Amino acid sequence: MISAKFQPNQTSSIEQRREQLKDWMRLCRESTLTLFDGMDYQTFCQQVHPDFSPVGWHLGHIAYTECLWLLERCAKSSFTPVFKQRKNIDHRRLFAADGLPKGERANLPTLADTIDYLAAVRKQVFDYLQVVPLNEQERLWRFILQHESQHCETICFLLELQRIKSKPNQLLISSLSFPLIENHQSREIEIPAGEFEMGSDSLDALDNERPRHRVYLDSYLIDKYPVTCGEYRQFMLAGGYQNQELWSPAGWEWLQNNSIIQPLYWKEDAVWDNHPVCGVSWYEADAYARFVEKRLPTEAEWEKAASWDAAAGVRRTYPWGEALPDGELCNHNYIYRGTTPVNAHPTGESSYGLQDVLGNVWEWTASWFDGYEGFEYYPYRGYSQVYFDGEHRVLKGGSWVTRPFGLRCSFRNWYHPFVREIFAGFRCARSC
Ligand code: AVJ
Ligand code: FE
Repeated sequence: MISAKFQPNQTSSIEQRREQLKDWMRLCRESTLTLFDGMDYQTFCQQVHPDFSPVGWHLGHIAYTECLWLLERCAKSSFTPVFKQRKNIDHRRLFAADGLPKGERANLPTLADTIDYLAAVRKQVFDYLQVVPLNEQERLWRFILQHESQHCETICFLLELQRIKSKPNQLLISSLSFPLIENHQSREIEIPAGEFEMGSDSLDALDNERPRHRVYLDSYLIDKYPVTCGEYRQFMLAGGYQNQELWSPAGWEWLQNNSIIQPLYWKEDAVWDNHPVCGVSWYEADAYARFVEKRLPTEAEWEKAASWDAAAGVRRTYPWGEALPDGELCNHNYIYRGTTPVNAHPTGESSYGLQDVLGNVWEWTASWFDGYEGFEYYPYRGYSQVYFDGEHRVLKGGSWVTRPFGLRCSFRNWYHPFVREIFAGFRCARSC
């Protein structure tokens, strides 16, 4: 879908960077709007799950956020504040994260009006881009680009939820066929003890990825692949969902209150056996790991195995190095319209030999979301810092819908451990 090159760390002239930003923002917007092609008002406004806003809210919020940060906060005098109150629509109240409560976000402007709002903001934003002191603001512009990308991902899984609600037994995406992996359980990789570099200081790194810092880890074993549906079925067949011993106390309580017997995006057909399990909560991932006498990797273990090139003593942006992601290297950006087998992208393997690290499914880690030492919020406390509350677990790697702008080894996602609507799976680890 996104075809032009995305080069997050390029060092070119300010004019080239201006044009580059413009291209990325156009590409990102194009893929956002594609999701809304021909959408009816009911779909646009439907709150498919109480914890998530309607997809139409996310679309308006993308424009609102771009307007707030780039026009109101930065462009200031050169910006006409017409968008605060366009067509008598109070965008702040409707679309600010701290505006209406989630349950009251169903009464939205139409899709056409929202597209109009996006376009009006965007026109001024691009006018401003021509004169902006980019050296001072490039980080903010890249934040805005990633903000839209992330809301795009939320829109994608909300649409998927709407679809499975209306046609629960329909197989959405036909499977690519790949040979099944044999001896899958034994495909573990040993990561030797030693230091590595975690996090990132690059211009596109978000506040929670900074600062880059060295971490020492003892040796450990980590799975070469994410856990597949075929493997997860063994857990289901062995009564994993009925066996309290496999569950953390909080996980067992959650299970009793929700009577769950399979992953949210579970597909029974064996053609999916080599795909990663998708749509599990952290509790399910944790229970499965106990079932195979392993555990979830910590975020540091995941990131070292994914990004550290021990021979060269350098961290890689992507598991395979610095080359930009494409459909050959990993399943992202909607390219395959669904998950792909875990062994379908061998060229994307990390220096330690892990496969299917970026894209396909997010991977739950054992770590609580927290700031690294020296953390400084950017651009606002509410982006990351308010979630350093000991209630959110870190996910790594991105999914089959993650846009390229947020796809990298240092990227950190976070959700409550009970969330299963995101496209999340996991891989296991153990100490050695
Ligand atoms: C990092 C995906 C959990 O969508 O709630 C978007 C990203 N923050 N707008 C979210 C975010 C503010 C965030 N996640
Ligand atoms: Fe947001």
